[in-house]
Amino acid sequence: MSESNATALPHLPSSLSQGQNQTNWMPAQKAADSKTIIYKSDVMVQLMKMIERVSPSQASVLVMGESGTGKELIARSIHEKSSRKSKPFVAINCGALRETLLESELFGHEKGSFTGAYNKKIGLAEAANGGTLFLDEIGELPLSIQAKLLRFIQEGEIYRVGGKDPIKVDIRLVCATNRELDQEVVRGNFREDLFYRINTIVVSAPPLRRRKEDVPMLVNYFLSSATNSFINRGKSIDEEAMKVLLKYDWPGNIRELQNVCERLQILSEGHMIMVNDLPESIRNPEMIDESLDFDPSMPLYELEKRYILKALLHYGGNKTQAAQGLGITIKTLYNKLHEYGEFEKYAVHTKPAKD
Ligand SMILES: Nc1ncnc2c1ncn2[C@@H]1O[C@H](COP(=O)(O)OP(=O)(O)OP(=O)(O)O)[C@@H](O)[C@H]1O
Ligand SMILES: [Mg+2]
Repeated sequence: MSESNATALPHLPSSLSQGQNQTNWMPAQKAADSKTIIYKSDVMVQLMKMIERVSPSQASVLVMGESGTGKELIARSIHEKSSRKSKPFVAINCGALRETLLESELFGHEKGSFTGAYNKKIGLAEAANGGTLFLDEIGELPLSIQAKLLRFIQEGEIYRVGGKDPIKVDIRLVCATNRELDQEVVRGNFREDLFYRINTIVVSAPPLRRRKEDVPMLVNYFLSSATNSFINRGKSIDEEAMKVLLKYDWPGNIRELQNVCERLQILSEGHMIMVNDLPESIRNPEMIDESLDFDPSMPLYELEKRYILKALLHYGGNKTQAAQGLGITIKTLYNKLHEYGEFEKYAVHTKPAKD
């Protein structure tokens, strides 16, 4: 089963489109291709039914799920199935920008409202008027902006930074998170009143390990439609190799599977992809496990941090390569670095400074 929808691309004045897939102005063809949702498993059939039911309403939707499970794809699909589909779908990653920049990206600013504000700027919320505003990684939203977002949701009005007059804006809100937001509420990092406003409907994107029936379909789809398909279109995969892919746990979910398929398409020789063409980490994941004894003094969080920083060292501080190697998005990598307090060190320098 698959579904694909027409494309509505806004032309927005923004500094956000820096190749990190944070916003939505890709060439129309690419956007249309990347919006096809491939699925077969019962759990996805149920999820798509839920999306059909939810989309036409105006209700705020919170899309939950691990990294790479297709949250953004689901958000787009909700927009495309709504009466707002001919209006803009505007996406912003709440974790990718510093607080002040985020506020002016989201709500805009008036000329002269701060040093460097030479012109008036329309914010993304205003640009999404009539359409859907997708707030990705909503759990990263700083508390001060949470307050402003709440006011916007309640009043239907925004204030540009430095602006005195409210501006009426009509949007449908879809948010995504890979964190347990209710836990963030308990920890005091996320406002409870905002939490209840954004989670009228909760949609959960299941991890790929819980819908392995989708793997063969996804593999065939990615092999025939990935960016490099013009060089290597039509590669097929050997039955044994497919079995290996089905056995693997896919911690990076569909994004990881997509990366593997793209690599196979470019690197494997011959027409048929064989077991030996598959990366070692997928053929023998237990080898990595065996070398890792459980250590009660090492919480998962610490282990993950060390692993990520090691990947950055391995790639000489190149964040794009490190994210690819880790099977996560660059956005997720930035977020992790923020969490660890290592953002400045790695974001500012090309190579990490030595400790
Ligand atoms: N069911 C699917 N069919 C086809 N492609 C998919 C499917 N689910 C996800 N993808 C693709 O996998 C990649 C990851 O999806 P997406 O960006 O929507 O995930 P995400 O949950 O937002 O990830 P992250 O948390 O890392 O931001 C995208 O390239 C998307 O097009
Ligand atoms: Mg995402």
